[in-house]
Amino acid sequence: MSTTVSTNTARTDGPIEVTLEATKEYWWCTCGRSRSQPFCDGSHDGTDHRPARLNVEETRTVWLCGCKRTGAAPYCDGSHDRS
Ligand code: FES
Repeated sequence: MSTTVSTNTARTDGPIEVTLEATKEYWWCTCGRSRSQPFCDGSHDGTDHRPARLNVEETRTVWLCGCKRTGAAPYCDGSHDRS
């Protein structure tokens, strides 16, 4: 999954804790433009970016990447702490 980030961004500098429910559908923002981080709000329109669907098999709390530099998308891998 590509995590390339556009320059017009609303991404955060760190991970975002969220509880994902098994019965719901989630789309993780890959472009960094969404104002509803870490989820897509459609702001990628007009770019080459597409949101990534999250497959949630059971309800759980996770840390999703907010900086969009993770190598373990959509989850935080600590890349926000590395230059
Ligand atoms: S707003 Fe970023 S992928 Fe949709």
